[in-house]
Amino acid sequence: MQLKEQETIEKINKIRNEKSVYIIAHYYQRGEIQDIADFVGDSYAMAVAARNSSADIILVAGVDFMAESAAILCPDKMVLSPEPAATCPMANSIDISDVLRFKQEHPDGLVVSYVNTPAVIKAVSDICVTSSNAVKIIEKLPRDVRILFIPDENLGRFAASKLDRPLDFYPSRCPIHAAVTRDDILQLKAQHPDAEVLVHPECAPEVIDLADYTGSTSGIIDYAVNSEKNKFIIGTECGVMHKIRQISPDKELILAERELICPNMKSITLNKILHSLETLQTRITVPEDIRAKAAIALEKMIEYAAM
Ligand code: 13P
Ligand code: SF4
Repeated sequence: MQLKEQETIEKINKIRNEKSVYIIAHYYQRGEIQDIADFVGDSYAMAVAARNSSADIILVAGVDFMAESAAILCPDKMVLSPEPAATCPMANSIDISDVLRFKQEHPDGLVVSYVNTPAVIKAVSDICVTSSNAVKIIEKLPRDVRILFIPDENLGRFAASKLDRPLDFYPSRCPIHAAVTRDDILQLKAQHPDAEVLVHPECAPEVIDLADYTGSTSGIIDYAVNSEKNKFIIGTECGVMHKIRQISPDKELILAERELICPNMKSITLNKILHSLETLQTRITVPEDIRAKAAIALEKMIEYAAM
C-alpha cells in the first residue's frame, strides 16, 4: 500500500471515530474500498444493511440507485454518496410513460422492478427485486396476472425461464454484462476445460445456457469459495474477484471478457470517500411523496425475500 493511500485511510478512520458513520460498499468497488468498508455486499444485502444500521451517517460506495435505496429505506439518516455522478445506464434507460401505459392497459397487472431503477420508477412499481431474489419473489406473485419486468431484459428472461411463466420485458440491458458473448465463454471453456463458468443473470441467455452457476454477485462469490473446483470463468464485473481471492487465494479466476469493468462503480475512490466524509457531501435525498411510495416496493421486496 502506498503512503498516500495509508494516509487517506487514516483520515477516513479518524472521522469514523469521531462521528457515527457506516460505510457500505458493493462488490464491484475497488479492492481498497471494499477493504475499508464496514459492510460489503450485493445490492440486496446493501439495502438491508442500510435499513438495519443504527449509524447517523451512511456512506454508500456504489452507484446512485444504491444510495437512493438507502435514502428511501432510512429517511431519518444522512445518506452520503462520494460520487453522485456514478450512475447505472441501464437504470436510467426506463421511460416512466412506458410503465404508466402498462399499468393503464393492465389494471390488474404488476410492475416488478429490479433495484437498478431510479426512485421515481420504484414509486410506480408494485415490488422491487434484485438478482439474488428475483426468481424467489416472482414465484410468490399470482400466476394469472400479467407482469412487466423492468428494466433488465436478461434478468427478466432468466427469471421467466426458471419459473416457466411469461413476463413482459423492457428492452434494456447492462452494457457491461451484455458484452459477454457465447463465443467468449466457448473459447475459454476450450482453453480451460477444468474450469466452472459462473455468471450474473444480467448476462445474455445464450451465455447463461453455458454456465455451471448463475447468481448475484454474492452468489457467485459464495459458489466459488465453497466449490471443490479450483478454477472459474467469471462472468460478472471484475470487482467480485477481490473478495474471492481474499477468502480463497489459491483459486484461479479467469475473467470472461477483458472489459468486464463498470466505469461508474470504479469512479469512486478512497479520496472521494474522504472528501465526502469531511464535507458531508453529497447528501442523497428523495422527495417525500416519491420516497414513501418507493419504500413500499422496497419493503415488500425485503418481506417477500424473507418468506
Ligand atoms: P447484484 O445485485 O448482484 O449486486 O448486482 C448489481 C449490479 O449492478 C449488477 O450489475
Ligand atoms: Fe449498472 Fe451494469 Fe454497472 Fe451494474 S455493472 S451498475 S447494471 S452498468
